[in-house]
Amino acid sequence: MIFSKKLLSWYNLNRRALPWRVTKDPYKIWISEVILQQTKIEQGLPYYKKFIKKFPTVFTLAKANEDDVFKIWQGLGYYSRAQNLHHTAKKIVTDFKGNFPGSHNEMIKLKGIGDYTASAIGSVCFNNLESVVDGNVYRFLGRYYGIKIPINTSKAFNFYKSIGNKLISSEYPGDFNQAIMDFGSIQCKPVNPDCGSCIFSNNCYAFKNSQISSYPVKSKRNKIRTRYFNYLFFYNSKNQTILNKRISKGIWHKLYEFPLIETKEILKEPNKDFLKIIINYTKKTSLNVNPFISKTYTHKLTHQTLKIQFWEIFISGNIDLPVKKSEILSYAVPVVIEKFIDQFYKTVN
Ligand code: ADE
Repeated sequence: MIFSKKLLSWYNLNRRALPWRVTKDPYKIWISEVILQQTKIEQGLPYYKKFIKKFPTVFTLAKANEDDVFKIWQGLGYYSRAQNLHHTAKKIVTDFKGNFPGSHNEMIKLKGIGDYTASAIGSVCFNNLESVVDGNVYRFLGRYYGIKIPINTSKAFNFYKSIGNKLISSEYPGDFNQAIMDFGSIQCKPVNPDCGSCIFSNNCYAFKNSQISSYPVKSKRNKIRTRYFNYLFFYNSKNQTILNKRISKGIWHKLYEFPLIETKEILKEPNKDFLKIIINYTKKTSLNVNPFISKTYTHKLTHQTLKIQFWEIFISGNIDLPVKKSEILSYAVPVVIEKFIDQFYKTVN
């Protein structure tokens, strides 16, 4: 049996029932695929439901307030995805009257839609013969064909894409793409795949050569850097605090956070520079605040590890542009801030 038929028959027996598999609405497929880009299905599913409930069409998303989009996205990470969704929804409404463009080349011109997302939307909704290439595809095809090109090099994508495009079913390209991803995550798992029950094991290069754990091939990655964040959790007797919107590009762009001081190492106690910044915030000439660390968190991102300390600082006077402590969680904040508030301040008004 040819590869795609075999895969599709496996899919028909093993496919996961998911809400975006009962629609060909390109808006919904787009949202689901963007959510699933860096996120496991179990984690992404509730976000998909929340997102579609709040923004059921491209028109509702285009009209939305950006902060509301971030609020729904809170906790999913890679927040530029939310920003791009919002941006592109507006573009689809203004330039395409709300109709998703169906051609691959048109789609990849849209912000936040790369080859992967355009291939997924295109194959499911418009029968485009474009195979997806994601981590599951790298693993499954990498093992099956014994591909030696490291998947984190620029050559790899084109190579895998051309194989995928040769294998894709011309009759059911959308099912083929979803099947290859499901196969990768259910059967051809990263660790301890059940090769004994695999319908492809007879022809699988890695299995036949007992090299399952050597594929897909990866070259050594850059080192992960560690950063030290100090959040200043100011509060006064009116239970007010300070929140800033992150404007710098990079992680957590446009989310809200407490005033932040980044240091070169963990601070056991406030040093001079640190105190100067606090004095600036409190606008006091002398310091009558008493910063102390209440909690340290470690937050792992793909290329960096954040060591985050929260410093509680009581201010005796008023706060400019105050935010009520009880309202902090109505802002889109990084998950670590949500955790901190949940653990320590949920009940404070
Ligand atoms: N991962 C991302 N998108 C997926 C899909 N549509 N089916 C299975 N796994 C996926």
